[in-house]
Amino acid sequence: MNNRVSRRHFIGGATAAAALGTLGMTPGVAEARVRRAAERGIRYLPGGAPMHRAFQSQVDEYDALAHLSSNENPFGPSEKALEAMTYAFKYSMRYGYPDNNVQQRIADAHNVSRDHVLMGAGSGEILDVVGLTWLAHDKKVIGVEPSYSSVYRHATGIDASTILLPLEADHRQNIERMVDVTNRNARDVGFVYLCNPNNPTGVTVTAEEIAYLLDNIPEDIPVLIDEAYHHFVEDPAYEESLKYVREGRRVVIARTFSKIYGMAAMRIGFAIAPPDMIQEMQPYSTGSVNALARWGAVASMEDQPAADRMLAHNRRLREQTISDLESLGYECIRSQTNFFMVNLRQTVAPIRQAFRQRGVAVGRDFPPMLDHLRVSIGTEEEMGRFMNAFEDIMTNISAGTGAP
Ligand SMILES: Cc1ncc(COP(=O)(O)O)c(C=O)c1O
Repeated sequence: MNNRVSRRHFIGGATAAAALGTLGMTPGVAEARVRRAAERGIRYLPGGAPMHRAFQSQVDEYDALAHLSSNENPFGPSEKALEAMTYAFKYSMRYGYPDNNVQQRIADAHNVSRDHVLMGAGSGEILDVVGLTWLAHDKKVIGVEPSYSSVYRHATGIDASTILLPLEADHRQNIERMVDVTNRNARDVGFVYLCNPNNPTGVTVTAEEIAYLLDNIPEDIPVLIDEAYHHFVEDPAYEESLKYVREGRRVVIARTFSKIYGMAAMRIGFAIAPPDMIQEMQPYSTGSVNALARWGAVASMEDQPAADRMLAHNRRLREQTISDLESLGYECIRSQTNFFMVNLRQTVAPIRQAFRQRGVAVGRDFPPMLDHLRVSIGTEEEMGRFMNAFEDIMTNISAGTGAP
């Protein structure tokens, strides 16, 4: 296979003529097929397979939306990652193929040995594996609300339970209180969950607070630190928590290629933890990370210029959008991530619907912060659409014209 790939060839569609061309039909036959297909409203995927008619409108609707709801990288994987993934297509039919040594490369990049790393189909799988490993026998997970709630949903789903603490008025996590509650429930605690920076607020827990937490709870209680957005953080008071793993503390760090590296749909993430914890987790892990994701992940990690471009873009547009919203009189939470929250001073749910009608998907509800809207940073064009929709919706609301 030709391993030079253009972004358009990998991501985008192709015309039906081009698609049929790749099937090796003579031009006259191909054109007639294309004409008939177009008359019947059939569209072709780049390889020549027809797209099912029932899906076409779903695809069109999805593609037309500004996706500001799930904290993705709007540009997708870097060119280098696309090339690596295209190269890896040749292993699609294999088991036990060369995987570009992804686990070792992750270990090397984080200055730990290979037995400190567990791969997952997204860091979501890692979070579930932590739940399955340490929440058996009615154990509890301690965390804050709102945070990345799939951890809590998973716990409830496996008949464990949660103790959720509120955020402070300034949206910070109260670590002293977390320590206190963990100690008071020590016998029942399966693990402590800390999302840093926190989703949906974008607010960090400082290095000092993490040290306080780890030094003041029983040392055998696992602490899961979810660092999905750590690349975006600029606050000097923040630190990644890898050093605790290297010291052998009972800490699991969850990381993902879904955010800065733009590979959410490829499903690849990993845990870094002391080897004995990795061994405890291993039986619950599927290890099912696909070949393309493995190759793409290695290439992404090694493409720092692409990550830097994403960071610069994100910072510029986040600060610009926050400043635009503030000049309209809406308070925003200072975020260290690729999303932020704006206080609408009214229930978000109907407003989210109004955004959707204007072709903009925004974040879901994050109880109890039901007046705050979470907005992910998209492309420049998408953020323009967001601001236009915002002004339009808010003007309608203040004019009392009925539907926002
Ligand atoms: C804090 C946090 N952790 C984990 C995840 C899961 O990401 P993935 O499974 O794509 O790695 C997300 C996704 O939005 C997230 O926001």
